[in-house]
Amino acid sequence: MAGNPDTLKQQRPWYNLILHLHPRKVKDETLRLSLSFGLGGMAALLIVIQVFTGLLLKFHYVPSPDGAYDSIITITESLFFGKLAHNIHHWSAILLIWITFLHMLRTFFTGAYRRPRHTTWIFGIILMIIVVLSNFTGYLLPWDQLSYWAVTISTSLLQYIPLIGNGINEALIGGQEVGAATLSNFFNLHTGVIPVILILLMAHHFWRIRKAGGLIVPEASKETTMVNTQPHLISREFVVALVLIAVLLVVSIIFDAPLRERANPSFSPNPAKAPWYFMGLQELLIHFHPFVTIVIIPLIILTGSLYLPYIKLNDSNYGIWFLSPEGRKAGKYAALSAGLFTVIFIVSSELLPDPETIFPEIPSLITTGLIPFIIVSGSIYIFMRSLQKKLTINRSEYIQSILIILVASYTVLSFVGILFRGEGMNLVWPWQI
Ligand code: HEM
Ligand code: HEM
Repeated sequence: MAGNPDTLKQQRPWYNLILHLHPRKVKDETLRLSLSFGLGGMAALLIVIQVFTGLLLKFHYVPSPDGAYDSIITITESLFFGKLAHNIHHWSAILLIWITFLHMLRTFFTGAYRRPRHTTWIFGIILMIIVVLSNFTGYLLPWDQLSYWAVTISTSLLQYIPLIGNGINEALIGGQEVGAATLSNFFNLHTGVIPVILILLMAHHFWRIRKAGGLIVPEASKETTMVNTQPHLISREFVVALVLIAVLLVVSIIFDAPLRERANPSFSPNPAKAPWYFMGLQELLIHFHPFVTIVIIPLIILTGSLYLPYIKLNDSNYGIWFLSPEGRKAGKYAALSAGLFTVIFIVSSELLPDPETIFPEIPSLITTGLIPFIIVSGSIYIFMRSLQKKLTINRSEYIQSILIILVASYTVLSFVGILFRGEGMNLVWPWQI
């Protein structure tokens, strides 16, 4: 009988392979595209593409300051399909950050961080960090002006971590400044250590998803019917994979990965910017003391996301994006207000005199660190209280609105950092950069 798992198992050996990843039957409800948007599967496919193209690039890439840049030129100009492999590796890396981040948001908004999926969520956070590290270590490898200075700026930020910051920075870059040892460290991390960790974590992730009984579904559809994985799930995964590969191919054929002039350690471009995913942090550094930006804020966000599954919630927000129309409204208010507040904050911090110069006798950790931090977190608290009074939202909608505030603010900060900061990191219009 077509589609019968037992018959398929005997007739087609590939079906055995699929059974390592999927159960024989899945809940009908989990096939709905608007539940998961296929984002987790896309992230997994992008990692496979990264490993495959990365291994091809590794045949010709030379991890030394003298050879790296020239080897990229050889790969892109002289090798059969070298340019395509390089472009795919570049665009797929960027797409991976986006897709993983969106997948994280989708699991968050559908409440998939709660028991029994808490381990999947916690290890997911680690996966997100590893994906960013994978991108960051790859960023240096082309060894052009862009990559050299972006890595110099980003690694120097580590020094603001008290006691251990300098040690971590020196161990990572292999000395006092970015050079041959850094390239060698980043190359080994990028092509050896990180891919292994990533693959192990992914295997663990898939195992936990299966242990939790598949994807989260709304309470109302708990009794949904079960359907055969083949063809119902496999055909859908196949379509999502084909579309993703097609988009990636078209983008990689049309747009070349950027490559600037060869890295020159004695000439810093102005402005020198961090990689795009750290630009929100670099922008925040203009307004806040480095200790608050590099240590306090990331630590609060990390602790909050790891603690999230253990917060007691009083609703059944499983598998649905927002519980009520009120929750949706709260989300919209939160996004709009956070975006607007961040713009006003950036502009007023540009126009108002620097607190450090007004109160030179007070340590800058207080004037540009603690005081603005207390003002911003106090404003968020007051805003959330008034939102709670205005709209009857429950605890999980309250948490969702806080995340929306953080994401909206980081998005505005990143846009301003990328598009509106010119020479000396001064505010300019995008066409003046
Ligand atoms: C999730 C996995 C990976 C991510 C996110 C990633 C990301 C990146 C990025 C952003 C670059 C810089 C490309 C550019 O801007 O032009 C790069 C370069 C590179 N990566 Fe990866 N990579 C991954 C896996 C791998 C693996 C598994 C290998 C090899 C075993 C590898 C080998 C290389 C090599 C040799 C380069 C330098 C050549 C080039 O820039 O095209 N990568 N990677
Ligand atoms: C390399 C990155 C990742 C890969 C390859 C990956 C892969 C997957 C896949 C294939 C699924 C099932 C299908 C789906 O939900 O789309 C899934 C589910 C899940 N992932 Fe990820 N994931 C990654 C990162 C993350 C991150 C960053 C988080 C959160 C911090 C996360 C948390 C979860 C959770 C909680 C589920 C269960 C969802 C549910 O039961 O509905 N994952 N992941």
